[in-house]
Amino acid sequence: MTQKSTGGDVRLSGISKTYGSFTAVHPLDLTVPQGSFFALLGASGCGKTTTLRMIAGLEDPTTGTVFLGDRDVTELPPYKRPVNTVFQSYALFPHLDIYENVAFGLRRRGIKSVKKQVGEMLDLVQLGDFARRKPHQLSGGQQQRVAVARALINHPQVLLLDEPLGALDLKLRRQMQLELKRIQTEVGITFIHVTHDQEEAMTMADTVAVMNAGRVEQLGAPAELYEHPRSTFVANFLGTSNLIEAEVVESGGTGPGAEIAVTAGGGKLRLPAGRSSAGGGSVGSKLLVGVRPEKISLALAEEAGSVPDGRNTVTGRIAASSFIGVSTQYVVDSPVGQGLEVYVQNTEHRDGLAPGADVVLHWNPDHTFGLDAAQDRTAGTEKVEDAT
Ligand SMILES: Nc1ncnc2c1ncn2[C@@H]1O[C@H](COP(=O)(O)OP(=O)(O)OP(=O)(O)O)[C@@H](O)[C@H]1O
Ligand SMILES: [Mg+2]
Repeated sequence: MTQKSTGGDVRLSGISKTYGSFTAVHPLDLTVPQGSFFALLGASGCGKTTTLRMIAGLEDPTTGTVFLGDRDVTELPPYKRPVNTVFQSYALFPHLDIYENVAFGLRRRGIKSVKKQVGEMLDLVQLGDFARRKPHQLSGGQQQRVAVARALINHPQVLLLDEPLGALDLKLRRQMQLELKRIQTEVGITFIHVTHDQEEAMTMADTVAVMNAGRVEQLGAPAELYEHPRSTFVANFLGTSNLIEAEVVESGGTGPGAEIAVTAGGGKLRLPAGRSSAGGGSVGSKLLVGVRPEKISLALAEEAGSVPDGRNTVTGRIAASSFIGVSTQYVVDSPVGQGLEVYVQNTEHRDGLAPGADVVLHWNPDHTFGLDAAQDRTAGTEKVEDAT
């Protein structure tokens, strides 16, 4: 069961797809290391499915080459590629029971003794007791696992998953995310998972490629993308960011510990020069300064004296607050910008933090990042929660 496939990485070289005058995928270079769990994340229409279909051989690229290991598979038909796809509509055979659904790929290849392999697959997806049920007698999540087992029994080198959890409700989705991750770890083959759900991508994948309008904007480990977004799109699409328009007053220089100082709304903020994807910045140039909502602490204006030295501070007034259980989310209007978001963990009740209260927002300067101010500050803020 834990046999490691050989053959290597999925490599896309200059792959693109145009339909008439419309470019769905701009020339793309991408390497998915063998055995990794890779996610293609992006809003509806950004080219995720098109990219996946080119890997599967279901779509001819307009330019470029698809490699599996060192092998150029661009001209190979889908059934000759060591790749299987699980779609959102898992399309199980309704008249066949679960056992026969899973056995299908083996039987089609003329393999007679399927019992051992089917048994292993059903164990892998924890459906051993359901072998004789028909698909309609299973829940959505169970059917989804059958679809995965049915694809994996062919021992593909790469499993492609196109929004496979889209039809499931939120709770089941979460459960299946962990389940798919477990299965991937156990079989050790490459999974390429397409989703528009940033939480899903971050939960499951080792590496996430954030796509926007046919291009990969940034690629990295989930924490890397979250903590070091390099564009406003990534900063806003992956979680939430406060992006403040600022002007450089002291340029960073280089070396560890180098800092950039900026002014925004009349106050001064600092950030590590190494966290500015727009570079050190020359004095007088514009910079978008970002900080995540959970990195910010709130103090009432009258407690401002208790804020430790060396923190970035910004004044404001609470415009709205919503209690969501684990945290309270505040919206704060400030001279540096309207609608700043602050998430405060509900560890203790804080009197006075209510709409209308004057507050000081403060955070560790190390948690501040800098972005090129020439970008659209709101890119990626309109999230499509369900693009089905
Ligand atoms: N056969 C086609 N002819 C013309 N345009 C197409 C065709 N297939 C896809 N497109 C366009 O290419 C773009 C990318 O489509 P794709 O299906 O890859 O998006 P996606 O990222 O998978 O979106 P979703 O999350 O909604 O599934 C879309 O704008 C789509 O309308
Ligand atoms: Mg799609």
